Amino acid sequence: MKILESRMPQHIAIIMDGNGRWAIRRGLSRNLGHKAGVDAIKRAIDSCIKFGIKYCTFFAFSTENWKRSKEEIDGIFSLVRDYLRSNANYFVEKQIKVESIGVLEPFPQDLIQSLEELKQKTKQFNRLTVVFALNYGGRDDLVRACNKLISQGKEHVTAEDIAASLDTKSFPDPDFVIRTSGEQRLSNFMLYQMAYSELYFPKIYWPAFNEKHFKKAIKKFQKRERRYGGIK
Ligand code: FPP
Repeated sequence: MKILESRMPQHIAIIMDGNGRWAIRRGLSRNLGHKAGVDAIKRAIDSCIKFGIKYCTFFAFSTENWKRSKEEIDGIFSLVRDYLRSNANYFVEKQIKVESIGVLEPFPQDLIQSLEELKQKTKQFNRLTVVFALNYGGRDDLVRACNKLISQGKEHVTAEDIAASLDTKSFPDPDFVIRTSGEQRLSNFMLYQMAYSELYFPKIYWPAFNEKHFKKAIKKFQKRERRYGGIK
């Protein structure tokens, strides 16, 4: 089966699972698994460009990930910080817009600054938008949206009001969700936005995910019949 340009997913959301297991299997520390996970992010972004995907969201740190050890959390912060700094030119050269969802406030100030600078530097691009979900939770997003609407004095809300108050307000809903490692859960990712997403759970740990797996995922998506509750 060939990949059809006319049936590409517009927005792919990725739950990058299996970094820890990938590392442990090799006798490495969990943080080296996350480090290899960063290389997989780079490969996935290159694949998005190659296949003309317009939006790709990476679940990098959830509202629940604060339960991990301080060592692991600090390791992830360092990887995000280094990645944002060392790839700034890449995003500009490739004309990729960088965005984020989630509450950044608890992160180290220098990480927030690098991210904000990169968002500012790339805000004019629209070839591909890469969204990093950082301290993001689907329930937290909905709760914050409700509170925004209450503070605006709304007594009755529509689905459009909610969508316009979520962190994802500027992006289309993800039409394709990939969770690696074989686990079949959404783990509090974009719950409201995933109402009609196609879900795909390849049995491969995230650090091993490459262009071949990306291509296979797109083929799986293109085989799905999307009905949105209707009849074909
Ligand atoms: C899930 O695997 C992975 C995470 C919670 C962290 C993902 C973070 C990165 C890849 C690094 C930094 C990100 C950016 C944006 C540069 P897991 O640890 O739960 O794996 P396991 O289930 O095998 O233990």
